[in-house]
Amino acid sequence: MRRTLPSILVTAGPTREYIDPTRFISNPSSGKMGYLIAEAARKAGCQVLLISGPTNLKPIPVKTIHVISAQDMFRAVQGHFKKFNVLVMAAAVSDYRPKILYSKKIKKGKRIKTLKLIPNPDILSWASKHKKTHLLVGFAAETDQVLANAEKKLVKKKLDMIVANRVGQENAGFESDKIEFSIVDSIDVPRPLSICKKEKLARQIVRIILKKMSTLNF
Ligand code: CTP
Repeated sequence: MRRTLPSILVTAGPTREYIDPTRFISNPSSGKMGYLIAEAARKAGCQVLLISGPTNLKPIPVKTIHVISAQDMFRAVQGHFKKFNVLVMAAAVSDYRPKILYSKKIKKGKRIKTLKLIPNPDILSWASKHKKTHLLVGFAAETDQVLANAEKKLVKKKLDMIVANRVGQENAGFESDKIEFSIVDSIDVPRPLSICKKEKLARQIVRIILKKMSTLNF
């Protein structure tokens, strides 16, 4: 008998936290990794929904919801989470947003000295509190102690798997087609970090998800 394939919700790209209509806080995430995972999952035959922050990527043949801020992304995930078996949070969600969103451009003469920030919701932590039979996959973008920090996030956010990802270098950073990574879960001893094409890693992640889900009753 042919098994049902899991449905996969993927987030991708950065979020933007606007200060006024002309300025925002964000990060250099290109969205490539998330888009490639969504595409690999679609090709594997899964039902996929992509929730994407602002990127310059070409659209892919996957149903996509476009969002801007972390709060928008949170609402979109909350709205769809229950309908999916797997959540892959490849998005680089801004942890903070400005306390005040100015409705008009702040003029130079205003001489603002400090910008007050408030925390954004942690989407994965919310998901781990509300999960039923879901599989939760995170990414840990780290500049140092990459594996150790990823392992901490795996435990803290109660994830099934996390992709430890070294960022901050030129040849395999945020905007590159390559990634320096190691896959961390609570079962296997993680391999040392290695560099590969994001496309190859996307296929590997989907293969692992399908394998893990094949042992679950979802
Ligand atoms: N994440 C999330 N909600 C947030 C921030 C992050 O769901 N508000 C998710 C990311 O999509 C990623 C994982 O949590 O899958 C780890 O994100 P990362 O930015 O590496 O870590 P943080 O939890 O933000 O912690 P820190 O910034 O201290 O490294």
